[in-house]
Amino acid sequence: MARVFNNCIWSRRADGTPVKMGDLTVTRERTLFVYTADYLASGLPGMALLASPGIWGDQPIEFNTRENFPVHPRLMSIIPGEGRRNIQRRVFASMLAKLGKPTTPGFETDWEMALMAGANTIGHLFLFRDDLQASQWFQRPVSTDTVGTRSRFWRMLREDISLDQAAFDPNVLARYIGPTPTAGGMIPKLLVSIKDPGTGPWSGAIARPGAPDHIDVILKIEPAEYKDVLTLENLCLDLHARSGFDVPRHWLREIDGMRVLAVERFDRGPKGFVRPQETFRSVIASGDRSFISNEDVAMDELPGRLDRLGEVCNLDVTAAKKEIYRRYLMAMLTGNGDLHLENISFLGGERATVLSPVYDPAPMRAWPQHDTRSAIPVSFAEGETWPQAMRRLGLAYGHTPSECRQAIEQALTNTAHYLEEIGDAPVEAPRKTRLEKILPAIRKEMAEAMLR
Ligand SMILES: Nc1ncnc2c1ncn2[C@@H]1O[C@H](COP(=O)(O)OP(=O)(O)OP(=O)(O)O)[C@@H](O)[C@H]1O
Ligand SMILES: [Mg+2]
Repeated sequence: MARVFNNCIWSRRADGTPVKMGDLTVTRERTLFVYTADYLASGLPGMALLASPGIWGDQPIEFNTRENFPVHPRLMSIIPGEGRRNIQRRVFASMLAKLGKPTTPGFETDWEMALMAGANTIGHLFLFRDDLQASQWFQRPVSTDTVGTRSRFWRMLREDISLDQAAFDPNVLARYIGPTPTAGGMIPKLLVSIKDPGTGPWSGAIARPGAPDHIDVILKIEPAEYKDVLTLENLCLDLHARSGFDVPRHWLREIDGMRVLAVERFDRGPKGFVRPQETFRSVIASGDRSFISNEDVAMDELPGRLDRLGEVCNLDVTAAKKEIYRRYLMAMLTGNGDLHLENISFLGGERATVLSPVYDPAPMRAWPQHDTRSAIPVSFAEGETWPQAMRRLGLAYGHTPSECRQAIEQALTNTAHYLEEIGDAPVEAPRKTRLEKILPAIRKEMAEAMLR
């Protein structure tokens, strides 16, 4: 018989104290969520932007499952991804196997894993099996033990992820950094904390997430099949920061011959402060039943979606549109065809919604299997060229013709020395060659778009 999961979601108040948000029922057919009366009275942000207390009040929020969305879209990021490198899925599969439970992907296994990994994930939701587990979790002491750069922990990750030698041992991970909360995306990553390096370099030592006097980071680990990706991502984060974009602090390091990139979490603050965070994909999928995959919404439609979001959230829609277009131009001109709907997020909840800082700007076109110009498709008008489409999009994203011209000119200036920087970076030739081949033509088209 199909299982019914009766679980709960908690969050934290601004001062870090825990608060129950509501009760959750998850079955194969639907997700139901109901806020507690106390949470409704608290004025705290809702479970998701389109599932806010302001819209739903004490009514159950019902989401009927469909292809690609076995649970409410906002909860999807809590289920560990299915990539073979996903660290969290491997840890939880081994834990389930020890308990004699099935470990194959599928609704029940996936949700069991979400329940193991649901506390302290990205954003302000803390998913628990029940209230008892929640109160125990919030009361647990957080160890400040650090993992230095010479430990067995790094050696194992290096052999397994960076050298592809199948050395993965979940017990080693658990011993050093405890249960691992999930984080979305394809590149292997861990949610951990580090001592704030200030303006200096990061020592490479890590502690468990939320450790006192530490800052929380996403730690990305470079896998064998994407050699150089973190060097390139680091370079593009720096480029965006220099170009005036809001970019989280980040530290690239080699540990024992393995490249890792620590990126400061923008959904966390000091003393247990948590900030709501939700991807654009989750927002669209929870409001639109016809949305199944990222390709279902074109660049042309996002401004309309933002207008509608602005009707239920306190979002500066005009600013958000202009900013997304500026990021899109940068993505085009750096060879990042992978600016998809999970690489754009909203922060702050429905009462103070803002676009998240830039994250994941790696130039994925350097890998042939990711060499698409735009992960979010563009609907071309009959006979329309790329320069014409870029121009049309600029206007659709709220720019006047002269603002659009300036935005393109600015993006061209920001990236004028990009290929030289790539040329000087410690990156293997095939990646350089691909970007050198692709980008001059894009620059030419952008210049044409500017002059129209
Ligand atoms: N600095 C950050 N603070 C908070 N959340 C973040 C941060 N960086 C990334 N995230 C969240 O973590 C998710 C995964 O991160 P990221 O996109 O960097 O990983 P990835 O594996 O490179 O993704 P992809 O599959 O798009 O290549 C993002 O979708 C976002 O929700
Ligand atoms: Mg990503």
